[in-house]
Amino acid sequence: MTQTCVTHNETETEALGGRIARQSDGLSAIALSGDLGAGKTALVRGLARALGSADAVTSPTYAIVNEYRAKRKICHFDLYRLPGGDALWEIGWDDYLASGALCAAEWSGVAPELFPPDTLWVDIEKTGEQTRSFVLRWPEGVGPC
Ligand SMILES: Nc1ncnc2c1ncn2[C@@H]1O[C@H](COP(=O)(O)OP(=O)(O)O)[C@@H](O)[C@H]1O
Ligand SMILES: [Mg+2]
Repeated sequence: MTQTCVTHNETETEALGGRIARQSDGLSAIALSGDLGAGKTALVRGLARALGSADAVTSPTYAIVNEYRAKRKICHFDLYRLPGGDALWEIGWDDYLASGALCAAEWSGVAPELFPPDTLWVDIEKTGEQTRSFVLRWPEGVGPC
């Protein structure tokens, strides 16, 4: 099912991440796309907070993956600097998914074929200085939020 949400500031985007968290038990992954500054990291921050994490949430641009302690572990990827899907495979993407962690990935368009069926697809568009439009594509049987 597809759902569209509009936010008007970063706090609202974090709150949307919190709403997604409440529906996240049925998800293995969250695939995020949108330009720099779209709010991908803000959404993951709200998600992590809602799942009880106190860890700092920032784009793992150089590290590729950050792990956050939470009720359910969150692995936060940034695929921007990855050359392609093979590289994601090499860093153990499959093991991260199999571990039961919730895997949230910025710049998912680098390797869309590697996301499992129970992925929430989030496409973000900057529609103004502060407004963002989120298109959420939920897998069968999960969501909306
Ligand atoms: N509606 C909004 N939602 C999220 N961020 C917003 C919004 N409006 C303005 N911003 C600003 O845009 C930036 C988003 O940053 P970030 O979440 O790191 O984006 P990304 O990870 O997509 O590059 C922040 O500086 C934030 O203050
Ligand atoms: Mg980011």
